[in-house]
Amino acid sequence: MTIQWFPGHMAKAKRQVTEKLKLIDVVIELLDARLPYSSQNPMMDELVKDKPRLVLLNKEDLADQSITKEWLRFFEQKEFKALAVDAQSGKGISAIPPACQELASHIIRKMKDKGMKPRPIRALIVGIPNVGKSSLINRLAKRHVAKTGDRPGVTKAQQWIKTGGGLELLDTPGILWPKFDDQLVGFKLAASGAIRDEILPKDEVALFAVDFLRRAYPQRLEERYALTELGDGETVQLMEEIGRKRGCLKGGGSVDFERTSDLILNDLRSGKFGPVSFETPQDFETE
Ligand code: G4P
Repeated sequence: MTIQWFPGHMAKAKRQVTEKLKLIDVVIELLDARLPYSSQNPMMDELVKDKPRLVLLNKEDLADQSITKEWLRFFEQKEFKALAVDAQSGKGISAIPPACQELASHIIRKMKDKGMKPRPIRALIVGIPNVGKSSLINRLAKRHVAKTGDRPGVTKAQQWIKTGGGLELLDTPGILWPKFDDQLVGFKLAASGAIRDEILPKDEVALFAVDFLRRAYPQRLEERYALTELGDGETVQLMEEIGRKRGCLKGGGSVDFERTSDLILNDLRSGKFGPVSFETPQDFETE
């Protein structure tokens, strides 16, 4: 889904999430395990306020496992309950209902104290576009739930989806905007595929990607493109070498940077370099 966020869209998204928050007990904040800081909405704390929050690091299959563990520790130190999940395969999903129950234990206790039979805990899934909100709803619902916007012009009443395990979900997630004020965050979002190619120049995103791989995963970069040595030259020269090796050439024999960029970004986004993480908690130690 491509969304160009303008101030009006942000205000509307904020209003919609605020309205939905009134209906629920627990917020499920979905982040991309490869970039948990960069895939967070900049206003999340302000929006969620004191509601119990479950942080989910989704797409854990694409992220570096050891770094995901560091991120889980980081969130736990900040006293957030956090889990790593893969909404595509379903890995880790069964831990979500008990985690929500635990986070809302005070509400359950209150109902019991009043002699009521506890109702299921109600949750809202919130996150930036493409982070996996629909995939997660479908997984928890164990069926396909139509995305909002699937049927233009049709507005339907909000419904609760039963997931079992004492958890109900609002059928439409809270869609929030990503951080855009920091160029590095923008490049990470684009390189991972979290934001679409139209937003930043593709060749610049590919250059960023090669630069990142060269620093963080040099061996995998060498192996993927059979590069003998990465050297310490300009990244653009490395991209040129990759283009030549892979036959991304123009009529006159010069390297076609557009095709080379597509190749590198597709490889990165589809996990051809193995699981990668774009950031670690240490990158933000001073914040
Ligand atoms: P959204 O509602 O937050 O916008 O995200 P959505 O569920 O549509 O997921 C965005 C893309 O991310 C989808 O791929 C989806 O399959 C993929 N995805 C979601 N969760 C995971 C995960 O845990 N691991 C991996 N590897 N991928 C995940 P797509 O290519 O846009 O669509 P499709 O392949 O599902 O057709």
